[in-house]
Amino acid sequence: MNTLSEARVSELFGEFFGSHPKALVKAPGRVNLIGEHTDYNGGFVLPAAINYHTYIALSPRTDRTLRVVAWNFDNADVVIPLTEEQQEDESNNWSNYIRGVVQQLCRAGFTLAGGDLYIAGDLPSGAGLSSSASLEMAVIRALLSLSGEVIAPTKAALLGQAAENQFVGCNCGIMDQLISARGQANSALLIDCQDLSARAVTMPGDWEILIVHSGVKRGLVDSEYNQRRQQCEQAAAHFDQTSLRAVDLGDLLDAEGILDDLSFRRARHVLTENARTLIAADALAKGDLSTLVKVMGESHISMRDDFNITTPTIDRLVEIIAAAGEGQAGARMTGGGFGGCVVAVAPAAVIPRLMAAVSHTYEQETGCVPTLIPAKASAGAFNN
Ligand code: GLA
Repeated sequence: MNTLSEARVSELFGEFFGSHPKALVKAPGRVNLIGEHTDYNGGFVLPAAINYHTYIALSPRTDRTLRVVAWNFDNADVVIPLTEEQQEDESNNWSNYIRGVVQQLCRAGFTLAGGDLYIAGDLPSGAGLSSSASLEMAVIRALLSLSGEVIAPTKAALLGQAAENQFVGCNCGIMDQLISARGQANSALLIDCQDLSARAVTMPGDWEILIVHSGVKRGLVDSEYNQRRQQCEQAAAHFDQTSLRAVDLGDLLDAEGILDDLSFRRARHVLTENARTLIAADALAKGDLSTLVKVMGESHISMRDDFNITTPTIDRLVEIIAAAGEGQAGARMTGGGFGGCVVAVAPAAVIPRLMAAVSHTYEQETGCVPTLIPAKASAGAFNN
């Protein structure tokens, strides 16, 4: 993995604009340790912000426009007006996240000021590590730095989510933006997505996070994702509720055979995942490795068999990592599903064994090329 630094991004700004930037902001991507597809069901998630970021070097302009350059897209550059009216740009898809954020900030009554923005990120895109949420949070920080206004981190996360839901057209939950905004160094965040309250859960000092990109490109993400949301809403409606959070696991289990099988399994994933997420947060706080390993394993099986969002290749990757960990490594697919990454949590001494097993076995068996991404729980965009 090639990583960027603040100094490098300032230099890139200089090479493009011919002057030093006035400021530099950054926002992290995230890895979710457990609590998948629970956020839009008002449930619990346990993500950590990671030490891979979207950086923006910036300087003010005198007109009311943004000139935005994207390092990750061969220095493609666009001009964006600072108004609520925004047009989609199909040939520069990346810029739609920025246009959506500008629109939301205007709607929320922020007064924006013009600027030159140089954007560069070291998060792999399409990996399920929330490069889009990190872009949204970095843009909000950049725009408020130009105008001198302040925003509460949770408000920033909600505006980023609204930009994605309403302008980009992806019906995502709140987890990615919230952790990118509010993450804390060395900690995961236990977020209650019903009221957006969050509690930092410090990771034991000698435990590490290893992310492995499966080399499987995430396919069908939007259509399958939106379908899962609908199926969850249908299951909740069976119990006269608008959210699965309000449904009791015991009542659900009693409804087996009455509720149609698909709705039953979707709801069982969500409700058991909520319970596992609370157990995992507790285990992480106490350094109880065997419990964490157990619930991460169960989470993967639930995503595989009840929520049907894994792929055979990803299942194999999780098996390889879990076997190499010999009971000392929690492993599960992370993110929306249908490809992307696996996350492992283990004592530092165990991590090399996991890496070796992935390098020796995975590609040979599946033909997919893995990328090993060691990660550290890091500060969010509004905490650094
Ligand atoms: C994507 C969405 C999140 C969340 C996860 C699944 O990352 O953006 O809101 O729903 O999938 O847990």
